[in-house]
Amino acid sequence: MNPQLLDVIRAFSHERFRSGEEVARGLGISRASVHNAVHEAESLGLRIQAVRGRGYRLAHPVTWLDASWLAKSMVPLAVHAQLLPALDSTNAQLMRQAQAGAAHKSLLAAEWQSKGRGRRGRTWLAGLGGGLMFSLLWRFNRSAGELSGLSLVVGLGLAQALRDLGLARASVKWPNDILVDGAKLAGVLIELTGDMLGPNAAIIGVGINVLGVASQGFELGQAVTDLSEHLPVGRLDRNDLLLKVVSRLSGLLTRFDVEGFAPFLRDWEAMHAHQGQTVYLFTAMGERIAGQAIGVDEDGALLLATQAGLRRFHSGEVSLRGGT
Ligand code: BTN
Repeated sequence: MNPQLLDVIRAFSHERFRSGEEVARGLGISRASVHNAVHEAESLGLRIQAVRGRGYRLAHPVTWLDASWLAKSMVPLAVHAQLLPALDSTNAQLMRQAQAGAAHKSLLAAEWQSKGRGRRGRTWLAGLGGGLMFSLLWRFNRSAGELSGLSLVVGLGLAQALRDLGLARASVKWPNDILVDGAKLAGVLIELTGDMLGPNAAIIGVGINVLGVASQGFELGQAVTDLSEHLPVGRLDRNDLLLKVVSRLSGLLTRFDVEGFAPFLRDWEAMHAHQGQTVYLFTAMGERIAGQAIGVDEDGALLLATQAGLRRFHSGEVSLRGGT
């Protein structure tokens, strides 16, 4: 991404049209540079309306991340916030920083990822201004095995933060996708670095769909949604969203570090989208197991009541449909 792009785009708003010439003058750059930035932003997924004689206007009310506000707001949480306009992946970048000694509770957010990573080797795509993408570094004095419930705790924290924002129907799909009415709103990718026996550092990557995603409908057979479908425009400020999510995560992770997953088990099940339902679990080996989702255990494993009896799963992909 052109380093000047965000300066140009931030000069436009959803409220009114502004001419390219006016913006060029304000920033001391050429009209052609403004034009190019608008085109590049569109190619990165930002929707911009252009009307001859009036100029440009953002199609959606995007709130850009504010580095100094975030850094200040995170101080009471003892979180060191860093915002980069563009990078490959916040997880990849924070992993490099963690391996070079970055502090516990370092947070890295970005406006654009060129190689956003999803679970199971997938890519995570988010249009410019349309998503909230960040990673949080949490250092644990624990073995990798003791962190098996971590992924569920993160999903729980996300769902709680979204409910704090007024999205009462936010629920968790095992292990940690966030769903609203069956459609995916957010995903989590946790990557560990350290010693199998501890200590370990977790890079907790979160991607939340905010704007302009719902129109894409489906992603790999899974319905998708975004916050703009469920909340009024005034509650779509990504700075506030980031603060609320990090605040919930910080509280939950601090307790998880001491007590493990057990104290969160009932809360997690209360937000479980598929609790009591018949689901299909697809394993990495290509197996498909049908069963009733009766909950999770203290390690965060999914419990399925199958024809062969009660089974526990530590990995796999849950679906309500058996055909995929
Ligand atoms: C998934 O549902 O597959 C997980 C998606 C996780 C995406 C986030 S976006 C911020 C962080 N950086 C990445 O490269 N991935 C995670």
